Amino acid sequence: MLGARCLLLALRRCSSALCLKHPQAARLRVREALEAQEVSGDIKVQGWVHSVRSQKEILFLHINDGSSLESLQVVADPSLENRDLTFGSAVEVQGKLVKSPHRMQNVELKAENIRVVGPCDTLMYPFKPRERYPLEYSRQFPHLRCRTNMLSSLLRVRSEATAAIHSFFKDNGYVHVHTPIITSNDCEGAGELFHVRTLNKAQQPRENSLFFNVPAFLTVSGQLHLEVMAGAFTQVFTFGPTFRAENSQSRRHLAEFYMIEAEIFFTESLQDIIQVMEDLFKTATSTVLSKCPQDVELFHKYVSPAQKVRADAEEQIQNWGNDLQTEHEKYLVKHCGEVPVFVINYPYDLKPFYMWDNEDGPQHTVAAVDLLIPGVGELCGGSLREERLDFLQSRLEGLGLSDAYQWYLDLRRFGSAPHGGFGMGFERYLQCILGVDNIKDVIPFPRFPHSCLL
Ligand code: 4AD
Ligand code: MG
Repeated sequence: MLGARCLLLALRRCSSALCLKHPQAARLRVREALEAQEVSGDIKVQGWVHSVRSQKEILFLHINDGSSLESLQVVADPSLENRDLTFGSAVEVQGKLVKSPHRMQNVELKAENIRVVGPCDTLMYPFKPRERYPLEYSRQFPHLRCRTNMLSSLLRVRSEATAAIHSFFKDNGYVHVHTPIITSNDCEGAGELFHVRTLNKAQQPRENSLFFNVPAFLTVSGQLHLEVMAGAFTQVFTFGPTFRAENSQSRRHLAEFYMIEAEIFFTESLQDIIQVMEDLFKTATSTVLSKCPQDVELFHKYVSPAQKVRADAEEQIQNWGNDLQTEHEKYLVKHCGEVPVFVINYPYDLKPFYMWDNEDGPQHTVAAVDLLIPGVGELCGGSLREERLDFLQSRLEGLGLSDAYQWYLDLRRFGSAPHGGFGMGFERYLQCILGVDNIKDVIPFPRFPHSCLL
């Protein structure tokens, strides 16, 4: 084995041997071109044509490559026009970046050569230039809608938000852990599990035997695995795919979604968990707003105003069924319509086995916290974890789970400490910051009945 240092050295030698002798036109992303103040020499831009306007003396194109909402204006001699140069075609344009005489843009690309790399049949293509399509229309074309402004903005926001969330945890000393996607535990105990089995008979040791020797499911939460790691690294997080076999016809539920989960050791207070939720939300959101203001603005301008304002906290309570006590409901009715609310201490019987028993008499609650956002509902759910071995043992026994969770009890036997954590649904977070009503409009590939791309 070479090891990292030797590999890097070998790679450097290879790439210098491959170096081109003759300088070529520098390839710029549309975003880089738009931000450039001055560029000397030839440049090359590759992307898709968003508009073509041919005048007697000049040909105008707008090219977009997904790097920004704004397209780059290309000006060319009409002799460079050809039959295939249409809306939607993939092109490569070479020329010089010059100062634009137009007020709306800094620079434009004066084309010397335009090559149509992939033509587009505009009659069959479901989108037309300069049209704004409702999200319901674009949803019918999950394989093409990423070329529309709305979806490309969404995907840039998703990407920036992902990076911002990772940075937040990294900057605050958390270790990132990849928790298993296939697991044998049902962390939430709600039975919303997808069963994983193999179809390949040859891989089954015996007829009807299980691939992993135990029943295996797609994960509903990485929390229990994070608790293992928090017991060695103090602060850990994961950000991965999560699966819930619940009827996902609602505007807030998906069968497959992404969850951010954090676990913190040496904490005895729900307030510590709440503080991390709040800091995460504020930091990630201000980063997204500063990195892609135009993309967020597009949603606020064309999507959120159309959305019915849901200031009615009572409606949220109804959606939640029995999972709230009367005093919480009253609290919500008063506040939830206007501001985000943290609701704490939920009934013991309604919550999973791992939550800290508050031992508070007839009320009997656990130290849980949910962050509710007007219009979206529950964005984050977390708790202090039950750390007392005897409490946990008797709760697991009551549920008939003691054998399966011996490893979890071990965590309380060997160097345990008070700890807690939370999970935040990534798609619900995007709904919050973009004001999107239907959760299916914030995922790259929505699953709709009869969708051509699952
Ligand atoms: O409240 P939940 O079920 O909490 C847990 O899974 C804990 N084990 C997390 C932890 O403490 N580490 O889920 C956390 C969040 C919810 O608040 C919600 O935002 C989101 O995950 N979520 C969903 N998002 C989309 N579709 C679904 N079906 C979701 N179910 C939960
Ligand atoms: Mg919850």
